[in-house]
Amino acid sequence: MNKLKVGVIGCGRISVVYAEAFKRLSNIEVKYALDIDLRRAEKFAMNFSGCEYSDSIEDLLQKNLDVVHVLSPHYLHREHVIQCLEAGFNVLTEKPIATTLEDGRAMAETAKNTGKKLGVIFQNRYIDGIIEAKKLIDQGAFGKITGAWSSLNWHRPPSYYQIEWKGSWEKEGGGVVIDQAIHSIDLVRYLVGSEVKSIKAQIDTRVLTQIEVEDVASAAITFENGVIYSFFACNYFTSNSPIRIELSAENGSILLEGEKVTIRLNGKELIIHPTAEIKGEGETYWSNYHTSQLKHYYQCLLNDKPVPVSPDDAIKTLEVVLGIYESAKRMSRVSMEK
Ligand SMILES: NC(=O)c1ccc[n+]([C@@H]2O[C@H](COP(=O)([O-])OP(=O)(O)OC[C@H]3O[C@@H](n4cnc5c(N)ncnc54)[C@H](O)[C@@H]3O)[C@@H](O)[C@H]2O)c1
Repeated sequence: MNKLKVGVIGCGRISVVYAEAFKRLSNIEVKYALDIDLRRAEKFAMNFSGCEYSDSIEDLLQKNLDVVHVLSPHYLHREHVIQCLEAGFNVLTEKPIATTLEDGRAMAETAKNTGKKLGVIFQNRYIDGIIEAKKLIDQGAFGKITGAWSSLNWHRPPSYYQIEWKGSWEKEGGGVVIDQAIHSIDLVRYLVGSEVKSIKAQIDTRVLTQIEVEDVASAAITFENGVIYSFFACNYFTSNSPIRIELSAENGSILLEGEKVTIRLNGKELIIHPTAEIKGEGETYWSNYHTSQLKHYYQCLLNDKPVPVSPDDAIKTLEVVLGIYESAKRMSRVSMEK
């Protein structure tokens, strides 16, 4: 079988994780790396024999590729994804799908119109214990889910925000919520299995005062099924503490600490440790599950099945992120109901 020809747009910090993941996939060959910083494109391309590189999207769009991975800054996701879909490539883009709902919907629409497959990275859905917890929830083992909370206490030094697009409403789309805690929001939505009805939130810039976006946020998020989700995130802790998420349910609870999951069900306790291998140069706080989502994406592509995570699903997570910002800016509860 011919291998799928793969390209990447954006060879920055996260690209090292992709380089490692691509080396573990047998059904692809990496043929093209694009970055406006040519040295980064070259460095990435050096991982793969026969991989071309450039700083010209026009050149990439002329190539014979099957899949392009979009790892560019948030505000460019729309442009890059739509250009690739229209050129006939399937796409897997990094989170968030976009910085606005309008952009996300335009991307989903283009995928439908072109018949190409668009997926969005939320690799934490592939943590071993999360897969088990989701399976048990879907089987009804926990009964009704009654509550949820998540807490992210991470460290982003001022130097992190010296990257040109970081710390800007226009380019990053926000701060700790859209960039870091979006993973917690997505996981809670995924596990609760209901959509958000209303949000009452506050955001602030308390410590990283050189940035215009928030470095802290808290919210009470009410789901249509009645679950109230207590959300907290900040980027000014002294280190990157493991993310914590807990769901309580009629028959037990689920606790995520980093990538370790403790499932308590009908009086029994099961602890599921992560099995994903530690990647090469990537940051330890990114979690090690990109390879799992990439494998799943390619399996679905080869078997002509819907690819994970669908644009509509990723837009729902973006709606919650943007709902937090809207509630905070209006200083009132926002209703997500149409
Ligand atoms: N899933 C995760 O856990 C995770 C972790 C980190 C980053 N990310 C995501 O990955 C994406 C990239 O983040 P990063 O931290 O690698 O950022 P980065 O700034 O380190 O890298 C972005 C790269 O895009 C390049 N670029 C900018 N404009 C371009 C253009 N017009 N054409 C081509 N290349 C261009 C930059 O030169 C840079 O090398 C973001 O969506 C981010 O949220 C996800």
